[in-house]
Amino acid sequence: MTTPSIFQDRMLSLGLARVSEAAALASARLVGHGDEKAADQAAVNAMREQLNMLDIAGVVVIGEGERDEAPMLFIGEEVGTGNGPGVDIALDPLEGTTLTAKDMPNALTVIAMGPRGSMLHAPDVYMDKLAIGPGFEADTVTLDMSPAERVAALAKAKGCETSDITVCILERPRHEAMIQAVRATGASIRLITDGDVAGVMHCADPSTGIDMYMGEGGAPEGVLAAAALKCMGGQIYGQLLFRNDDEKGRAAKAGITDLNRIYSRDEMVTQDVIFAATGVTSGSLLAAVHREPGWLECETLLMRSKTGSVRRINYRTPVHTV
Ligand code: FBP
Repeated sequence: MTTPSIFQDRMLSLGLARVSEAAALASARLVGHGDEKAADQAAVNAMREQLNMLDIAGVVVIGEGERDEAPMLFIGEEVGTGNGPGVDIALDPLEGTTLTAKDMPNALTVIAMGPRGSMLHAPDVYMDKLAIGPGFEADTVTLDMSPAERVAALAKAKGCETSDITVCILERPRHEAMIQAVRATGASIRLITDGDVAGVMHCADPSTGIDMYMGEGGAPEGVLAAAALKCMGGQIYGQLLFRNDDEKGRAAKAGITDLNRIYSRDEMVTQDVIFAATGVTSGSLLAAVHREPGWLECETLLMRSKTGSVRRINYRTPVHTV
């Protein structure tokens, strides 16, 4: 049998949805149990088991961390049967571990897949992020602008008042000045306690009421968010932030030489990818895993950037098969 070397995004997409579903169903048992680590571990185990069933020669480029700190789904881990195309995988088996532990909204399982070399190997450091939805000229807002300038520029592009704009920001002390500056424009802010992949994705879904995302969060989550927006439409910019030499060393290890570079969406994700996210807790993008005696049900967003197709898949399964 010949080994398909081309990235068969259409064929692989349902497999990717299964991976995402399995992680969500596994971690859902731990929703509200106050144990972040156990919920994350359940998602990691399930995601890895399902990934290893896929006919791919996959490498985890965005994962649970460096090999020495993550026993499974570490950066560089090879996954899949090995009998298939070489692919890069970016994943976060449980995006929002605290949200899950506390049963708060918008915890997701997230995974993206593309051909080898398609995604930025972002080290596990922080990233300054700025995102808006589809339909705007490139550079309508930029990281060089102040928060107030971004709000004004987006309002101008939308033909509305700054008070009609809603910005999503992670609630952290480091964002206090940004929050004050955005509020001074009259714009509204939706503060989230965790989960900035979902935060960014909100910008591309008008039903959420979010126009723009800004602030510092995990760099791996930035690449996953870029993969999502490549499918949904929308712009994201990201600049890696380094707090010490150890973090700069991580960048060097990942092959990053220009530490000040600002990456656009298509520089973080350079080729077409597929993306799947499944809701763990309820949220504005996806429903929670629903449990009833003998049954489990979950909702998955499955997207392909090549076609811009977005599917919502509802999966219902008897409990014993999971
Ligand atoms: P976890 O799921 O790993 O807990 O990450 C949640 C998250 O809120 C991300 O969405 C975000 O990018 C990052 O943590 C922000 O980091 P910090 O909590 O250090 O501000």
